[in-house]
Amino acid sequence: PKPVRVALLGCGTVGTEVVRLLREQATDLAARVGAPVELTGIGVRRPNKHRGQVPAELLTTDAAALVDSDVDVVVEVIGGIEPARTLLVTALRAGKSVVTANKALLAEHGAELFAAADASGADLYFEAAVAGAIPLLRPLRESLAGDRITRVMGIVNGTTNYILSAMDSTGAGYAETLEEASRLGYAEADPTADVDGYDAASKAAILASLAFHTRVTAADVHREGIASVTAADIAAAKAIDRTVKLLAICERVTHADGRESVSARVHPAMIPRSHPLAGVGGAFNAVFVEADAAGQLMFYGRGAGGAPTASAVLGDLVAAARNRVVAGRGPRESAYADLPAQPMGQV
Ligand code: HSE
Repeated sequence: PKPVRVALLGCGTVGTEVVRLLREQATDLAARVGAPVELTGIGVRRPNKHRGQVPAELLTTDAAALVDSDVDVVVEVIGGIEPARTLLVTALRAGKSVVTANKALLAEHGAELFAAADASGADLYFEAAVAGAIPLLRPLRESLAGDRITRVMGIVNGTTNYILSAMDSTGAGYAETLEEASRLGYAEADPTADVDGYDAASKAAILASLAFHTRVTAADVHREGIASVTAADIAAAKAIDRTVKLLAICERVTHADGRESVSARVHPAMIPRSHPLAGVGGAFNAVFVEADAAGQLMFYGRGAGGAPTASAVLGDLVAAARNRVVAGRGPRESAYADLPAQPMGQV
C-alpha cells in the first residue's frame, strides 16, 4: 500500500521522541495503520542544533514548503501561536490531517482550526495538548459522546503540582521551593505560564470545550496561580487534614430558570487528604470526570515530558494515518453546530 506521508513541525523534547518512536516502531506502526508511515521532513529553526539526534537529510527551515509538499499528515510540536496557527490552518484547508500538542493555540484559536478541519473534511487530533500521556481527550470526545458530562476537575499542571507537593512535605515557602524546582529541572527557566496558571487555563478551556460541546477560550477561564500560596496556608490546610492543589474545574451549571452555562476556573484549592486527587504527587496529572450515566471516572498518569507526550502524539498519528488508509474520518466538531457556540455566561 501507498505510504502515509508525515511532516513534523518542531524537534524539541517531544519532537525528538516522536522521531525515535516512529523509527523504532516502524514495522508495528505499519501493521497497525495498514500502510508504512513515512516521515518526509522535520521543520526546525536551527538545523545544526538537531544533527546527530535525527536524520540530517530530513531537516528543513522551510516549514511552509514542508506543509505544502505532498504529505498526508502534519504533526505540530512547535508550541506558541505563530507560526503554528498559519501552518496548521493552511494544512487543514488543504485537506491534510493535523496532529498537534499545542494547548495555547487550541485554547485561543480552536474554533478557527475546527472550522478549517470541518470545511475540508480533514482530521484534527490533539490528545497531547492536555495531560501529556493520559488518554483523556479521546474519552471525552468519543467514549463519553453519548453521555452527559457534568464536571471535569483535575490537576493538569505538573510543575505547580510538584511545587505544592514539595511545600506540603517540607513546610518550605513558595519562593525557595520554586528555586529548588528550577534547579532540579522540574520548573522551566521561565515558569510564568505554569505558576501563574496560564498553562492550566489553556487546558481547562480545551477540556470544557470538549466536555460541554461548546467553545471556551483561555480568556473565558477564571485564573489564579500559586505564587501567593504561603507556607502558612499549607500548614493551615494540614491542621484540618487537607492539602493544597492547583485545580482546573469545569462545570455545567444549571440556573433556576433552567438556563445552562459553563463555568471554567483554575485556582489553588484545599482538598481533603482522603480525596484521590490529594495523593497525586510529583509531576503527575490526574483528572476526575463525572457524567450522568458513567458516574465518576479518574484518569491518572504522566502529564509532561518527552516520551509520555510523544506517546499521545503517536496515538493520534496512528488514528489519523488509519483514517487516511480507509478514507475515514475522526470526530467531527461540526456535529456540535446546533449547540451554542459560546459558553452561555460565567458563574
Ligand atoms: N509545563 C507543563 C506542566 C508541561 O508543568 O505540566 C505540560 O504541558
